Amino acid sequence: MDPLLRSAEAIASAHSVIALTGAGISVESGIPPFRGAGSLWEKIDPMEFAHIGSFLKNPEKVWKGFLVGMKDMLDKARPNDGHMGLVALENLGRLGTIITQNIDGLHQLAGSGDVIEFHGNFAWQRCMDCDGLVPSSGLDLSSLPPRCACGGIYRPDCVFFGEMIPEESLARSRSLASSCDVMIVVGTSAVVQPAAMIPVIAKNSGAFIIEVNPEPTPLSHSISDRFLQGKAGHVLKTLAETVKGLIV
Ligand code: APR
Repeated sequence: MDPLLRSAEAIASAHSVIALTGAGISVESGIPPFRGAGSLWEKIDPMEFAHIGSFLKNPEKVWKGFLVGMKDMLDKARPNDGHMGLVALENLGRLGTIITQNIDGLHQLAGSGDVIEFHGNFAWQRCMDCDGLVPSSGLDLSSLPPRCACGGIYRPDCVFFGEMIPEESLARSRSLASSCDVMIVVGTSAVVQPAAMIPVIAKNSGAFIIEVNPEPTPLSHSISDRFLQGKAGHVLKTLAETVKGLIV
């Protein structure tokens, strides 16, 4: 049977469907992935610009060399058909929680109701002294690093390399993974832990794993029950339309 139709059937008949997303779902929104051709980590060294140690050592350098460009890119990004496909599945009552590794906030902007953010959200900046949060949109970048009224330096409310995933996000994701019937894994290279373990937990608990990616990953031939090869926008739009056709 056609893998997309088989996937749509699994979604249509499941009690609990969740999704795990990575950078690939936002590529069609103009945000480059972290790995592979044209990727972010090809241009800059994450250990030099995205590690908490580098930020603490020289916040001005990290703001100038990485964060200002990131903010500019995220300010312009809008949800694409991939994000909207997941919203369509949720509106059909066929998708619950989305676990995302992305910090772009595009799932929420698209209208997804329950998003677990493994790596935080760039939409907020936190003062390193008083812990106060401000929206990134209002940040004054005329002098770098940006500072709070209290004099403290602002950092994105995201998880840098070298920092822990929030324990609550991890615990909830593990619990959802072990109790879902279907997991849709979209646009992740599945090489960064602990996110890469989430589909493995689901599979070991009996879930049907649907993977959407233009390229095979370490999951594709071992963990994924169906590999839908292609870009998230087209595949998720078609998948949601096919599910709709099966349930109405
Ligand atoms: N649609 C779907 N998937 C795509 C698309 C697309 N249009 N374009 C690229 N991809 C796929 C790539 O083939 C790749 O498998 O998206 C994946 C992106 O992989 P990564 O860049 O490694 O992103 P991700 O898996 O989210 O990275 C995990 O690594 O550096 C850290 O903190 C960063 O959250 C990130 C984590």
